[in-house]
Amino acid sequence: MSAKKRIAVIPGDGIGKEVIPQAIKVIEAVGAAVDFTSFDWGADRYLADKVTVPPDGFATLARDFDAILVGAFGDPRVVSNIHAKEILLGMRTKMDLYANVRPVRLLDASLCPLKNIEPKDLDFVVIRENTEGVYGDLGGVFKQGTPDEVAIQEDINTRKGVERIIRYAFDYCASNKKLDGSPRKRVLMCDKSNAMTHAGGLWQRTFQAVAAEYKQIETQHMYVDALCMQMVRDPRSFDVIVTNNMFGDIITDLAAGLQGGLGMAASGNLRPGHASMFEPVHGSAPPIAGKNIANPFGAILTAAMMLSQLALDAEAEKIEAAVLEAVRQKKTTSDIGGALGTREAGDCIAKKVAS
Ligand SMILES: NC(=O)c1ccc[n+]([C@@H]2O[C@H](COP(=O)([O-])OP(=O)(O)OC[C@H]3O[C@@H](n4cnc5c(N)ncnc54)[C@H](O)[C@@H]3O)[C@@H](O)[C@H]2O)c1
Repeated sequence: MSAKKRIAVIPGDGIGKEVIPQAIKVIEAVGAAVDFTSFDWGADRYLADKVTVPPDGFATLARDFDAILVGAFGDPRVVSNIHAKEILLGMRTKMDLYANVRPVRLLDASLCPLKNIEPKDLDFVVIRENTEGVYGDLGGVFKQGTPDEVAIQEDINTRKGVERIIRYAFDYCASNKKLDGSPRKRVLMCDKSNAMTHAGGLWQRTFQAVAAEYKQIETQHMYVDALCMQMVRDPRSFDVIVTNNMFGDIITDLAAGLQGGLGMAASGNLRPGHASMFEPVHGSAPPIAGKNIANPFGAILTAAMMLSQLALDAEAEKIEAAVLEAVRQKKTTSDIGGALGTREAGDCIAKKVAS
């Protein structure tokens, strides 16, 4: 059997099809021992044959691959967005990729819209529950199209789901260091338990129970609205944040804004011990797709995160260092102040990691 790690690649739609080839180019240039297999899941395939995910698709990914590298899904031609929902949310829920991990790091002070924030000030991680909450699509519409129409969107919170994501956050805090080498110290649980008392109560009780097992780790709690304010007033205090699916979705875009925008943000959808999925945080960005202007660094940093998860740490570190250098040299796409195209920015990182 090959010792190479097996990577399934699903570029998807829009700029996903532009940034993922840059990530692959960089992985190849750094010499990582991986094999790629491409999948054409996305809007084009759906429009051609109405298939979102082929039969056995998720089982194939889970069985035959060590990791999955994904671009983005969403295409104006598919108004229902059904393919995106079935592929992306399908992967997260059917493969039980319960921990969405979003590192928030500032590579260069010039990227942050806040005053006086240096790279050392912004180095936290958001751990988002990825399989439950309001994104489970449970609910219904009653008397649709009438003045009496009612829409119900259920918010699912299970003890098992809440406990395992909180435990993941504590384990992450205990076993990961900050970029400057100092240990991570604190887990902050973010909810809205003052208004959403039933789900919030479960999160509160579970947080306290799990925290008691990690006495060396400090704990903190914030309501999501207060946390948003604090994130833009002074993000220095954040370390590890754990929260539910929807709040995590929202605060990670806010956090992406602090680190230079959606083009700079990486994420992993993890299930320890199983094939995990890695994707840049941004969507398919239809207005800029096909123009060679999308920032590929989020996808490239996502590739580094994937390699690190596959224990290819030296290669991952080399890629991260190359992106950092390119940002400092302003060898970037225009969204973060440079003049390079998507392909040229990818070439630049590939050249740096190959040397
Ligand atoms: N994980 C995913 O696949 C995912 C995530 C979010 C949105 N979407 C889908 O993407 C489509 C567009 O959604 P949206 O506009 O809300 O979000 P988006 O992330 O595609 O774009 C938001 C803004 O950020 C900019 N942007 C995003 N990525 C960029 C990059 N790499 N370089 C430079 N600029 C970048 C876009 O031009 C746009 O101004 C929708 O169909 C949506 O459902 C998919």
